Amino acid sequence: MAKKPVLLLTRRLPEAVEMRAARDYAARLNTDDAALDEAAIVAGAHGAVALLVAPTERIGQSLIERLPASVKIVASFSVGFDHIDLAAARMRGLIVTNTPDVLTRATADIAMLLLLGAARRAGEGEAIMRGDAWQRWGPTHLLGTEFSGKRLGIVGFGRIGRAVAKRARGFDLEIHYYDVVRAPAEVEDGAIFHQKTETMLPVCDFLSLHCPLNEATRSFLNAERIALLPDGAIVVNTARGDVVDDEALIAALRSGKLAAAGLDVYRGEPNVHPAYRTLPNTFLLPHLGSATLETRNAMGFRALDNLDAFFAGREPPDRVA
Ligand code: DGY
Repeated sequence: MAKKPVLLLTRRLPEAVEMRAARDYAARLNTDDAALDEAAIVAGAHGAVALLVAPTERIGQSLIERLPASVKIVASFSVGFDHIDLAAARMRGLIVTNTPDVLTRATADIAMLLLLGAARRAGEGEAIMRGDAWQRWGPTHLLGTEFSGKRLGIVGFGRIGRAVAKRARGFDLEIHYYDVVRAPAEVEDGAIFHQKTETMLPVCDFLSLHCPLNEATRSFLNAERIALLPDGAIVVNTARGDVVDDEALIAALRSGKLAAAGLDVYRGEPNVHPAYRTLPNTFLLPHLGSATLETRNAMGFRALDNLDAFFAGREPPDRVA
């Protein structure tokens, strides 16, 4: 029987995913989910043909150059691939894959949770309940911002942005979107396209970020763009922390320019800018966008599907480099 290819998994993955990996590969599991630095990944990859990595690992140029020659493919357990230096991977002839589609719904659901949580001051309400600090129902207590019927701007009208639009229609929101290309009319389904952020931002009572992180979108939400939003707007981010200029967002939340922000992703995760924790008008989650068992299983299976295709001599379906 042919020897199974060696696969290094840099993070602990859901049980069903690890079982399949161990069934089909000589899998090097990270059972205690230890944080692996560059040296540990290079050492662990000795003799491996494939790596299954997560967005927590920076697969930068220096790591790619240090990887043993045996490594031919890196499958990322993520849709985003900003943690991988694709140019360096191409230069080294390393195949890279991601996991699109399977986390669309879960991430769109979290965006809705953030929109509603930020608008309705759910974090403050929960803190009152947990702190046993609720005095009594009050006509003016914790008044939030109505969500239903408002105007929602979506930055990035890809799979997740569209799924958020679909959900928001159920709340009677008027949907606007900004992207580099206009979607076909049947995909827009009434959403209003903006070629420029300058025309969209002034009509956004709510703004939801769904663009990938790249050099064009880094610090996309900066002071100038925030200034274009209506006073009292609410911003949510389920894309990547680096899409937001933290200092600008914090200043706007402090001044009241923005009523609230809902954040699931942060620059420099897991080290969150400390101001976010102290501001009452933030609703914060620890990067839970895709965190359902169903979705995490599907992400793992999708990553393994890509590896299976590679080892069967086929083009991995989700190849990004
Ligand atoms: C991804 O897949 O890129 C997500 O950020 C993980 O939830």
